[in-house]
Amino acid sequence: MSTILEVRELTKRFGGLVAVNDVSFKIEKGEIFGLIGPNGAGKTTLLNCIAGTHAPNDGVVSFLGKKMTGYNADVLCRAGMSRTFQISQPFPRLTAIENVMVATIFGNQRSNIFNPEQWANEMLEYVEFPMPPETLACNLNTVQLKRLDLARALASEPELLLLDELAAGLTEGELHELMQIIRKIRDNGVTVLIIEHIMRVIMGLCDRVMVLHYGRKIAEGTPQSVAKDPKVTEAYLGEETLAA
Ligand SMILES: Nc1ncnc2c1ncn2[C@@H]1O[C@H](COP(=O)(O)OP(=O)(O)OP(=O)(O)O)[C@@H](O)[C@H]1O
Ligand SMILES: [Mg+2]
Repeated sequence: MSTILEVRELTKRFGGLVAVNDVSFKIEKGEIFGLIGPNGAGKTTLLNCIAGTHAPNDGVVSFLGKKMTGYNADVLCRAGMSRTFQISQPFPRLTAIENVMVATIFGNQRSNIFNPEQWANEMLEYVEFPMPPETLACNLNTVQLKRLDLARALASEPELLLLDELAAGLTEGELHELMQIIRKIRDNGVTVLIIEHIMRVIMGLCDRVMVLHYGRKIAEGTPQSVAKDPKVTEAYLGEETLAA
């Protein structure tokens, strides 16, 4: 195995608030790596610092062996890192397929996509997008938007895919389908970092899990060992999500 992402001593502050505090970890190629922690723990902020949405105040992000700390999101995307957002951010007045075409045309420099429309269609099929491709994004519900997000993120043929709460709001059946799709993505060679509150998803998908609490890493290991760790159960005290 080789390391695809290494984060060293990363800190991100918002004024006096330390949202991510001296966090280090590595993700190996081919892993599904879970990032969990109570609300406000710093998960999205950490993902934003990796994916180029925020520049960290301190620390180093290395991707595919190269230091890429603070690079812009578009550069990171073309280098092989793509992400979804906790709250979907489609182009609302474009159709689903046009949204994926935008991601293909501007994000994919990895292979020569001869026909962006055909490629976008393939991406929608790959994620089992449940609506006609011509549906306007503003007419999609949250669950359909999450599928669209996934198709858009895959359109650039990433080596590392960062998913921020893709399973929120899904029914049991939809959850099962999504887990199958994420497994398929990994089996096709994409490494996955997944932020998720639903422990069933984390336990069922992840090879390793890291836990954040108040911006600090408090545990890392297999899903089973992390779920039993007293520091983790204490951090989640009063929250229903760990047991869900
Ligand atoms: N742009 C910002 N400006 C100021 N504070 C922020 C900003 N983004 C996040 N924060 C704060 O940083 C902390 C970490 O937030 P973050 O969104 O990373 O948590 P999270 O673990 O993703 O939570 P959730 O599970 O609710 O999504 C919170 O206290 C939040 O209010
Ligand atoms: Mg978040």
